[in-house]
Amino acid sequence: MSRKKKIMFVCLGNICRSPMAEFIFKSIVSERGGNMEAASSGTSDEEYGNPVYPPAARILARHSVSCSGKRATQFTRADYGHYDLIVCMESRNIRCLERMLGGDPQRKIVRLLDFTDNPRDIADPWYTRDFEKAYDEIREGCTALYDSLERKDST
Ligand code: 4NP
Repeated sequence: MSRKKKIMFVCLGNICRSPMAEFIFKSIVSERGGNMEAASSGTSDEEYGNPVYPPAARILARHSVSCSGKRATQFTRADYGHYDLIVCMESRNIRCLERMLGGDPQRKIVRLLDFTDNPRDIADPWYTRDFEKAYDEIREGCTALYDSLERKDST
């Protein structure tokens, strides 16, 4: 069996998009199987320790995805070493991580919707207030990411 793939999802605050991605991805892995683990963090420490933002948690619950117990945390340099893939919600997150790390020497940093046929940022629902759209885009990205990892695993 192949080694466990460790995935870190990253957004700005770690209370909306990246926790949605973490728990949607975990639910896909638990439905479809796979040797993968997921976590999420923010580039900012602004929301450190806070639970998932209630409108984001409600959308997840409506789709039978639990995020209970999750508290916001900030991405660290040690995370860069620990995780195999650092999956960002938007280009700004990538720029921020590259500034913190002095680049991406192991080429681990990617953007979630670059796994789809329509590469783009996930708009921040904190500002758009469109949590349904964020959910749909994040599910689209997580499904494409999962498929890509499964394809790699079978070759
Ligand atoms: P997230 O959303 O990056 O998807 O968790 C945000 C949460 C909080 C803030 C911005 C975006 N904020 O400015 O506090």
